[in-house]
Amino acid sequence: MARTVLLIVCVGLVLPAVRCYSTGFISEACDSMIPAHGGYSPQTSPSPFNVTSNMTTYQDGDKVTVLLQSTGSTPFGGFMLQAREFGGEIPLGSFKVTGQAAQLLTCNQAPNSTVSHTSKLDKNLILATWTAALSKDPKPIEFRATFVQNYTTFWVNVKSLTLSYSGVFPNITPTSIGTTASTSSGSLTPSMLSITSAGCEVTKVCFSKPLHCNPAVDRGCYFMSASVSPPPSGSSPPSGSVAQFEMKGPSPGYVSFGFSDDRQMGNDDIYICALETNGFVQVQHAFSTGKRKPNTLPLGNVSNVMGSLEDGVISCSFTSMNPISTQQRFTDFNTPYYLLYAYGPTSNVGDIRFHIGDFSSSDKVDITNPQLVSGAGKPQSVKAHGALMLIAWMTMATLGMMVARYLKSLAKGHSPFGKAVWFLAHVSLMSLTVLATSIAFIVIFSYVGGWSGGAHPVLGCLVMILAFIQPLATLFRCGPDHRLRYVFNWLHMLNAVVIKALAVAAIFTGLQLFDNTEDQVLVKVMGGFVGWEAAFYLSFELYTSCINKGKPLLHLLCMLIPGTCVCVRFSLGNLAFLVALLVGIKVA
Ligand code: HEM
Ligand code: HEM
Ligand SMILES: *[C@@H]1O[C@H](CO)[C@@H](O)[C@H](O)[C@H]1NC(C)=O
Ligand SMILES: *[C@@H]1O[C@H](CO)[C@@H](O)[C@H](O)[C@H]1NC(C)=O
Ligand SMILES: *[C@@H]1O[C@H](CO)[C@@H](O)[C@H](O)[C@H]1NC(C)=O
Ligand SMILES: *[C@@H]1O[C@H](CO)[C@@H](O)[C@H](O)[C@H]1NC(C)=O
Ligand SMILES: *[C@@H]1O[C@H](CO)[C@@H](O)[C@H](O)[C@H]1NC(C)=O
Repeated sequence: MARTVLLIVCVGLVLPAVRCYSTGFISEACDSMIPAHGGYSPQTSPSPFNVTSNMTTYQDGDKVTVLLQSTGSTPFGGFMLQAREFGGEIPLGSFKVTGQAAQLLTCNQAPNSTVSHTSKLDKNLILATWTAALSKDPKPIEFRATFVQNYTTFWVNVKSLTLSYSGVFPNITPTSIGTTASTSSGSLTPSMLSITSAGCEVTKVCFSKPLHCNPAVDRGCYFMSASVSPPPSGSSPPSGSVAQFEMKGPSPGYVSFGFSDDRQMGNDDIYICALETNGFVQVQHAFSTGKRKPNTLPLGNVSNVMGSLEDGVISCSFTSMNPISTQQRFTDFNTPYYLLYAYGPTSNVGDIRFHIGDFSSSDKVDITNPQLVSGAGKPQSVKAHGALMLIAWMTMATLGMMVARYLKSLAKGHSPFGKAVWFLAHVSLMSLTVLATSIAFIVIFSYVGGWSGGAHPVLGCLVMILAFIQPLATLFRCGPDHRLRYVFNWLHMLNAVVIKALAVAAIFTGLQLFDNTEDQVLVKVMGGFVGWEAAFYLSFELYTSCINKGKPLLHLLCMLIPGTCVCVRFSLGNLAFLVALLVGIKVA
């Protein structure tokens, strides 16, 4: 009984401390900077985290950048930072932070004199700016931090190098700070990483698909926001401004955004929030050199990183002082760029893989100017290219070839021009196919403006070349009754089979490029389309061999496949598949 009471008392004492700590509510620890962790004591080993500042001296009113960082691969969950007189106990000056990873606390009645975490999510780097306050007796100072790795493992009194005072010693005593009644830390709302559309258009640029979605409530919302604080006075662009970025979206491995000079992948400055092997979401910086896996870049001046994975939705936020660079240009945040967005899986070592979804902004965006940016669909020219190629190769060419192969006998009649009807139909359908292919070719090359690489363009160019050879070769054929005519017939048919196979492969790879949703519906519909066609080619082959040879056994099968009926059924199915794919391309 007594033991139970003791247990309840213990739990009652420990629990509030745990809860407080995980949200950085640690004003009880203002003086000692030791977290109240159920009696566990600080580590005595050297800390795997360090505190550095960008200055070795300071004057009144100076701004000093302070970094808390992990020196190895272990991240920290909690932290507390103060500036103190060398060897002293009282926090001095005040801090500023950006982002959601850090918050400001009031300690010793001095508001904003202490920085702490807002959640126990993993961090590798925290950036804060400290402003020296006027003091009547300036002394050397140092930055002191506590780092918490987990509940039992933490380091206190991790110190920066000492900053000596380099200013003029004041002879007039200015009004000292900290005399205003303390707004207790209770007024600070602790927050986990919460990314919302609140503030869009007012304080931040928001780029999302669908437009107007709120990542805080819509699970299917792919969201990115940027808000840029003006550069600290005195510093000049391009390195001055601080941008805070947020990303959120459902993804198996990563969400990412990039700055681009065009709307395509290639030469883009990219930030990625990726789920890494340790189960944590981390920020990566990368540069794409084409339509392949981007090269990893050093993170650079990225800090205050927070990431989380919740119910398959990845979120992260971070601040960056890196300029934007697409190699052609190297600029400050206020230069307009197209925004790209992509998401997809990561490999088991945290490397990103090919995206399963992507979109881009329809115009260039200046991220210092708060606005709403919608994710546009696929460019019209790519849609036109795909649609034309589909109509050409899955319907016009198919009909033209079938007419030449199977309907010669049905349309033997001579037209007013003295040619067989089947021949006229074949030639006009095939010429239209070649024409449509050429148009789609010009459309895509003027959009891409070069060679984009991969299997699709190679297959596509082969189709184009062989399709030109076909009518050219026809010009040199010998007369229908010549003894070598069979050579043309064979070459023409062989080439036709090769072109058709390559065109189907080009369409499959084209649709894969085009439809990078997870389930690749368009590719599957195309699979059905090809199956449908193959089944009918087989039926027609069978049917014609029945007619020609009249074998008694096959005759039975022939009864089951009435010719004209098959034609109608084939055409209807062909059109249904074509329409399904065209609609799919239109809405993408
Ligand atoms: C027989 C059919 C097709 C041929 C001959 C063909 C040919 C080509 C060629 C030559 C390119 C090269 C431009 C380049 O990237 O350098 C290309 C690009 C492309 N094609 Fe096709 N294509 C065909 C069907 C399709 C289909 C059905 C789609 C899907 C809707 C499609 C989507 C694309 C896309 C997305 C690109 C790349 C655009 C980019 O780089 O951003 N293609 N195609
Ligand atoms: C991309 C273009 C073309 C393709 C894929 C194609 C395909 C075919 C196919 C599959 C056949 C049936 C061969 C057989 O009897 O089994 C055929 C026959 C024929 N095609 Fe084409 N064709 C194309 C363009 C042309 C053009 C532009 C012409 C004419 C100016 C032409 C003239 C002929 C002729 C004369 C035959 C009859 C051969 C015979 O005596 O059976 N073709 N073509
Ligand atoms: C240190 O950082 C502050 C704040 O960003 C900046 O104003 C100051 O110029 C920096 N000092 C040096 C020596 O880089
Ligand atoms: C602190 O850690 C960072 C990251 O490992 C390292 O680059 C830096 O030199 C360290 N600074 C000090 C003073 O040890
Ligand atoms: C403390 O920081 C908050 C948020 O940055 C700011 O609004 C407030 O004015 C600061 N207070 C003082 C006394 O610096
Ligand atoms: C805390 O971290 C240390 C060092 O990585 C590890 O040995 C220990 O098991 C961890 N404790 C908890 C409660 O996770
Ligand atoms: C970070 O920014 C500072 C100035 O703001 C600059 O001196 C430094 O080179 C930058 N570091 C990196 C890694 O970009």
